[in-house]
Amino acid sequence: MTTTEATLHTRDPFRSLLALSRRGGDVARYRAGTEAAFLINNPAYVKHVLVDNHENYSKGTFINNLFKQAIADGLLTSEGEDWWRQRRLMQPAFYRERVARIGDGVTEATLAMAERWGSNVRTGEPLDVAAEMGSLTLRITTRALFSVDISQEADSLGHRIAEGLGYLISPDTPEFLRGRAGVEETVSAIIEERRTDDREYADLLAMLFAARDQDTGEAMSDREVRDQVITLMLAGYETTANALTWNWYLLSQNPRPMAVLAEEVRAVLSGRVATVADLPQLPYNRMVLDESMRLYPPAWILGRRALAEDRLGDQVIPAGSVVALCPYTMHRNPAFWDEPEEFRPERFTRDRAAARPPFAYFPFGGGPRLCIGHNFALLESQLITATLAQRFRVELVPDHPVLPERRFVLRPRGGLPMIVRAA
Ligand code: HEM
Repeated sequence: MTTTEATLHTRDPFRSLLALSRRGGDVARYRAGTEAAFLINNPAYVKHVLVDNHENYSKGTFINNLFKQAIADGLLTSEGEDWWRQRRLMQPAFYRERVARIGDGVTEATLAMAERWGSNVRTGEPLDVAAEMGSLTLRITTRALFSVDISQEADSLGHRIAEGLGYLISPDTPEFLRGRAGVEETVSAIIEERRTDDREYADLLAMLFAARDQDTGEAMSDREVRDQVITLMLAGYETTANALTWNWYLLSQNPRPMAVLAEEVRAVLSGRVATVADLPQLPYNRMVLDESMRLYPPAWILGRRALAEDRLGDQVIPAGSVVALCPYTMHRNPAFWDEPEEFRPERFTRDRAAARPPFAYFPFGGGPRLCIGHNFALLESQLITATLAQRFRVELVPDHPVLPERRFVLRPRGGLPMIVRAA
């Protein structure tokens, strides 16, 4: 195994990470800012860090600490006993049967958006599909988890959040502060309203309010509830929005998969509105999403810090060093993917997926810190994709350059202007 010491270019981290992953062997040494870091390129070692020896790896990295301090200290960033307590408390809201209940809300919100798109079909006026997916998933997430309809605010709030989060790396900028103020204002209003509402709710917010500390019997403070709500809103909406945005981009560039998808949706639904019960009959729809998240995984890099010294193959990982697990580079590693730059949903047939090593594909992470919302995100994205593929074709506005941007989640720089046509 070779190791290489390199400093990543901050201007094009994707290219330099890819280059590092190609030449650096299973464990490539580099510098992240002032710190020694290791990029893991072997799926067995990803599994080691996330699953087998997860207790030795904390989330105490620069970005996680920044998120914790500047935005919210919730399930995404907590550790140890605190994390375990929070995860146990919230997990039931994300069980598959529970998540299946969001189906009608998803199609309802998608159909309302489709109605607006109808006027763009008539006029030929382009739409920013990135912004559209953002306000759609924000609306769906807040309604499903907190029973709140923020359709009035969704567009401007989504924009402010996305802008603000993008500046997480420098949290004293006015853009970041504006984004955070928007989120805090909305979330405080949601909590305040619920405190004074005496109706019965069975959503995640109700679970947070009902939670009692095992030892002291105390309820969560408003601040703790607020941090969890912000965490779930942010972790849930921008990731899903970007998965969908890249999905539309890739479909617009790949007419054959688009045609196969449209035919599947036509044959299975015969013009009906899609429901959760239809999803198992729409396997290609799911394969398209899996393939989009291969090329553009919204959570494109995960960081951990080694607590004690560890060993990955013959590479020693000193205590305190940063370990980077990078879906973006692993998902393009030619050892596991033929012609990795090509968009080919067929890679995700059941047999072919089963033949790959575990953790060659990990858009939702894995082990105990596996994304709590992955069933939610998959169900939501599949329903949205089927509903829109049934009605529209999208084309990229000519000459618009599409480049991934290094923000908190992977997103296209400057949005995704598209022309929509009727299917
Ligand atoms: C396509 C959409 C999504 C992607 C790609 C995604 C990806 C991820 C990944 C990779 C992690 C693990 C991070 C790590 O190990 O450092 C994670 C954790 C998490 N995700 Fe997601 N996520 C998505 C949607 C959602 C949704 C819809 C929700 C909630 C409604 C959500 C809530 C969370 C939370 C709370 C965590 C932290 C879990 C824990 O540490 O116990 N995510 N997500």
